[in-house]
Amino acid sequence: MGTLTSLDAHTRGTRHTPISPAILYFGTQVSLLSTVDDSGHPNLAPNSSVWWLGQTAMLGVAARSQTGRNLMSSGEAVINLPSVDHVDAVDRLALTTGRDPVPERKAGAGYRHVRDKFAAAGLRPLPAETVAPPRVAEFPVHLEGRVVAIHPMGGAPSAAEASLLAVELGITRVHVVDALRMAGHSDRIDPTRWRPLIMNFQRFFGLGDEAMPSRLASIDEEWYRG
Ligand SMILES: Cc1cc2nc3c(=O)[nH]c(=O)nc-3n(C[C@H](O)[C@H](O)[C@H](O)COP(=O)(O)O)c2cc1C
Repeated sequence: MGTLTSLDAHTRGTRHTPISPAILYFGTQVSLLSTVDDSGHPNLAPNSSVWWLGQTAMLGVAARSQTGRNLMSSGEAVINLPSVDHVDAVDRLALTTGRDPVPERKAGAGYRHVRDKFAAAGLRPLPAETVAPPRVAEFPVHLEGRVVAIHPMGGAPSAAEASLLAVELGITRVHVVDALRMAGHSDRIDPTRWRPLIMNFQRFFGLGDEAMPSRLASIDEEWYRG
């Protein structure tokens, strides 16, 4: 393969142009994070910054959101994963905050305070088994977890002074509806049935079809447990 000249690239429609996107939301999974405040009052907020490694979830959370505050004070959360079919409920919580009064910058963008997020979303709380925040009964997957560490982002000296937090959540229990379980296995999820909701530059998408057989999938999932 030779090097593409810029003329070749242009004619083939593959020219790259440096741009400066205000956001880098290239498509990640949406969840509703449930947390509780100091008085035990539950909050529920959409989140799309999560990645997984081993039995840990890393969450990207604004420190001054009610969720950020609750995570710092109580150290517990449930990551409630909607399927693409629950997109309406997620969207009902967009532009809402558990903060009262609404921080000025958010008020300017159209955010409003909502105390009962479950009612606003039309969802029912279900007690969790290992943490205080409730689960979302209607959603097919719940991951209960405890904060292992909070990493202040952007070079802030502490979480209290940071705007953004990377929250390391050790998963303590996973609940999944039976319809998503892989036949013949006690602990596996069938990826052909699981249809996560994806946020792609502020807009909602589902998954496309499976692209091709995966070499990585030749490894038995149990191998990762070790
Ligand atoms: C689909 C969607 C994804 C979002 N992803 C994130 C995220 O990853 N991290 C974050 O801090 N806020 C995210 N937000 C914005 C928060 O939900 C928003 O700041 C909300 O006011 C937080 O609520 P709270 O103040 O009650 O915690 C997202 C919002 C939507 C609708």
